[in-house]
Order: sequence, then structure tokens, then C-alpha cells
Amino acid sequence: MPKLLAQAMALLVGSLILAGCDRGPDAATLNRYASTALPADTELAEIYQRSCQACHGQGSSAAPLTGDEAAWRPRLAQGMDTLINHVVDGFGGMPPYGLCMDCNVDDFEHLIHFMSRYPDRPEAVDSPDPMNSPDPMNSPEAMNSPEPMDSPEP
Ligand code: HEC
Repeated sequence: MPKLLAQAMALLVGSLILAGCDRGPDAATLNRYASTALPADTELAEIYQRSCQACHGQGSSAAPLTGDEAAWRPRLAQGMDTLINHVVDGFGGMPPYGLCMDCNVDDFEHLIHFMSRYPDRPEAVDSPDPMNSPDPMNSPEAMNSPEPMDSPEP
């Protein structure tokens, strides 16, 4: 098989696996999102901008990046109460209240929801079947070769 096709297939398989595991966007996309994203609620957006964004909005900090669902998953697993307590008390490199001294528990909960989620990914959401999306690599040749996600039998 031509090398280029092999690479193309590796990419295709890779993207299918990513879609299948719901791993989210790549690091560059994530960084771009995190550096600009704001909560839809204007009051919350204002809090986020002045308090959380400096650390959670850029990848060079030790803070879990806004929108980085993989980084947030194990933290969310602790439960919302624990997360909020950590924000209030300070946690690791995070100062108490995440620097928002006038925030209440509801604010923190909404902020955490916002920060721990990546918004709709059109490719993932609109086409549950990745093979249906327009894809230059869906050549007949690529379809014929062994493809873990595609073959009915194991
Ligand atoms: C000065 C930097 C800084 C600011 C400002 C900041 N954080 Fe953090 N935050 C961090 C760092 C660093 C961590 C990771 C700490 C660790 O795991 O050791 C963190 C972790 C968290 C966690 C996860 C805690 C856990 O139990 O895993 C939550 C939730 C959080 N921040 C929310 C917020 C919210 C909400 C704001 C704004 C109100 C905020 N942070 C502001 C630096 C910051």
C-alpha cells in the first residue's frame, strides 16, 4: 500500500478512535478555545474573566484548562461539593476562592460546569456516524482495507 495512503488511514483510524472515545479536540484547538471562551451568562463571564481565566484559560498554568474535559473528568469524579470546597479553601496552586472573594457556592458551581466542558463539537454531535461525514479519505480503497471500527466481524 502506498505510504501516503497508509498515513491517511492512520489519521482516519486515529480520528475515528478519538471520536469513539470522545477525547475532544487537539491541544492547539483546546488552547485557542480556553484563551477566549466565556460563560454565556454575562455576570458569570465577568467573574470568570477577573478571577479564573488568568490561570484556567491558558495551558502554561498548572490549572486544568477550561474546556479540557479529559483533565476535568477525574476532578469532577470527586463530586461537586469537594470541588467547591477546594475552590473555597484553596487547592494546590489555587488561592482561596479562586480569587473571587465575593463569589457564592452557586457561582462556583456554574463556573465549574462551564470550565469542565467543551462546547458542541459539530463533527461529533451532528454526525454520530463518522463514516457519513464528507471525508476525502473515504475512497473505495480505504473502505476495503481492514478497519477496526468498520468491520462487522471482530
Ligand atoms: C492563581 C491561579 C488560579 C486561579 C485564579 C483560579 N484557579 Fe482554579 N486551579 C488552579 C490550579 C493550579 C489548580 C490545580 C490545583 C492542583 O490540582 O494542585 C486549580 C484547580 C481548580 C479546580 C479543581 C479542584 C480539584 O479538586 O481538583 C477547580 C474546581 C477550580 N480550580 C476552580 C476555579 C474557579 C471557579 C476559579 C475562579 C473563581 C479558579 N479556579 C481560579 C489555579 C487557579
